[in-house]
Amino acid sequence: MKSTGIPKVTVHTLAKMKAEHRKISMLTAYDASFARLVDQAGVDIILVGDSLGMVVQGEGNTLPVTMDEMIYHCRSVKRGAERAQVVGDMPFMSYQASLEDGIRNAGRLVKEGGAEAVKLEGGADYAELAHRLSKIGIPVMGHIGLTPQSLHSMGGFKVQGRSQKQAQQLLDDARALEQAGCYSIVLEGIPRELATEITAALSIPTIGIGAGVHCDGQVLVIYDLLGMNEEFRPKFVKRYDNLAVRIRTAVEQYITEVRNEQFPDEEHSFSKDAPAPQNATPYGSARAAAGGGPPERDPDASGAACIPLPFPRPKK
Ligand code: KIV
Repeated sequence: MKSTGIPKVTVHTLAKMKAEHRKISMLTAYDASFARLVDQAGVDIILVGDSLGMVVQGEGNTLPVTMDEMIYHCRSVKRGAERAQVVGDMPFMSYQASLEDGIRNAGRLVKEGGAEAVKLEGGADYAELAHRLSKIGIPVMGHIGLTPQSLHSMGGFKVQGRSQKQAQQLLDDARALEQAGCYSIVLEGIPRELATEITAALSIPTIGIGAGVHCDGQVLVIYDLLGMNEEFRPKFVKRYDNLAVRIRTAVEQYITEVRNEQFPDEEHSFSKDAPAPQNATPYGSARAAAGGGPPERDPDASGAACIPLPFPRPKK
């Protein structure tokens, strides 16, 4: 992205927000176009979550997501984000087998994916990794409670920390992660009373999902917030739109107009007599997300109404 002089959200911004009791907003994004939109709307943190395995790839859980896929999506998001902090999720088995794996893979998310911080699921067991990464200069966001990568040992996507013993364990985990140097912690799928207690006990911000209103911030999966999947209706998701219906309606209208030869009409066609189009770049929003720039001209096309190419053509 080109810099527009907008101050970037950093670990320091987020610490200050907690100190000043200003709530932090975080959303997922997986590509440049969504990243650009949520960034323009003013979200503080964009999480390139491994939830992409479910909402983008259509898997039943997040376990199959690979490091290479996370890096690919991080790079895309990074091109669309100007102000928000971009956090890359560490996928399943990218850090669980060894400290070395964790350090190397977190480094890849930053170096190759452009992430400004990494998130990893798990409590005190990963304090050493969080500590090493923080020392290297990679900010770490913890993630405890309902940790989707532990789906099979939890026996499903179930609310955690209901018993006194579990609640104490989560409080201990949160403290261990803070001590290890994490700059924030996601609290997922835990009773709001416990989330309130953990938030009060920590000096770093907590970001809740299904953890009540008293966390220092909130996160949702962008597709859930927009209502992209009509079947998915968990209690913790509030839908701010119903895009599933709106997208289908728009596409149905397009299909009808194609069948009836109503599209493309004169307004959306080129003519040999018309002046050169000013903005005929295909995939315009993608280019805008990538920093815009004037449309490329097709060097091979001639005549007034040539269609500019979205990207430079390879030399023949
Ligand atoms: O992968 C993800 O999107 C997440 C958030 C829901 C916290 O971990």
